[in-house]
Amino acid sequence: MTDTSDGAFRRKHLLGLEELSREEVENILDTAKSFREVIGRQVKKVPSLRGVTICNAFFEPSTRTRLSFELAEKRLSGDVINFSASGSSVSKGETLKDTIRNIEAMAVDMVVLRHGASGAPHYVAEHVDACVINAGDGFHEHPTQGLLDIYTMRAHKGKLDGLRVAIVGDVAHSRVARSNIWGLKKFDADITLVGPQTLMPREIERMGVRVTHLLDEALEACDVVVVLRLQLERMESGFLPSIREYARTFGLERRHIVKNPNLLVMHPGPINRGVEMEAAVADGPESVILEQVANGVAVRMAVCFLTWRANGIEMAAALPGA
Ligand code: CP
Repeated sequence: MTDTSDGAFRRKHLLGLEELSREEVENILDTAKSFREVIGRQVKKVPSLRGVTICNAFFEPSTRTRLSFELAEKRLSGDVINFSASGSSVSKGETLKDTIRNIEAMAVDMVVLRHGASGAPHYVAEHVDACVINAGDGFHEHPTQGLLDIYTMRAHKGKLDGLRVAIVGDVAHSRVARSNIWGLKKFDADITLVGPQTLMPREIERMGVRVTHLLDEALEACDVVVVLRLQLERMESGFLPSIREYARTFGLERRHIVKNPNLLVMHPGPINRGVEMEAAVADGPESVILEQVANGVAVRMAVCFLTWRANGIEMAAALPGA
């Protein structure tokens, strides 16, 4: 059992934000702030993970998460290998457990895992000695995305307590929405979910959020809007009458921003331009979408550093006579 009573992050794995305390989240955000400063230097590298081997194992497509983990690991001086399910022996029927255990057999210390099945990182963590970091599992969680979103909100708004956040769109299929909710609720943020009934999980209000279908009203009364990607690849037919109707009802337009000039506009990417938001919003002055990406590197440096340090502490404590 991990002792988290003093708030310091001492977990060998990062599997989700649900199980973290407010203090642990703050510890990660503060560590990320230090690494943001490192990234701004001419030499953007520290030796924290020298000698540590990390495998980024991606069983689903990714641009931002995979590249920013790789960059984060290299900026910490880790040795990095990358695995993509496409083109691998997964196509010959090799199981997830066998794949990861074979990767670990090559003396890999840390596995960053993206998988389409909810709970896959938890399952892997039970079967390997390596640290496991969840880079997105099914509909469950995308904890480093949640952390980088919350980091970006705190950097711009100066606080998280009581922050009014609207999360718009395909909540039903969104692990990003769940990680944002779990993370933000630790700070008593005021969260409103906006979207069609068919894209709202049943009983989502139990997470302590409000649900509405009225985009205009929600946007006028919030400080931050997180617009979600419409996850068409995870949808069966019948969720939406048409993409055009969805865009007309729930797409973010400049007219929304004009009514609330202090609104911070966020999106985890990739954006379906003209569907979830018009280009003038995505590229407008209120948008911090590319800053989210930049912050993602610092947040992932913090997560890799802290999990590895926790692993080291546990290993040291396990030494005979320690
Ligand atoms: N936000 C996010 O997870 O993007 P990728 O799928 O490109 O990693």
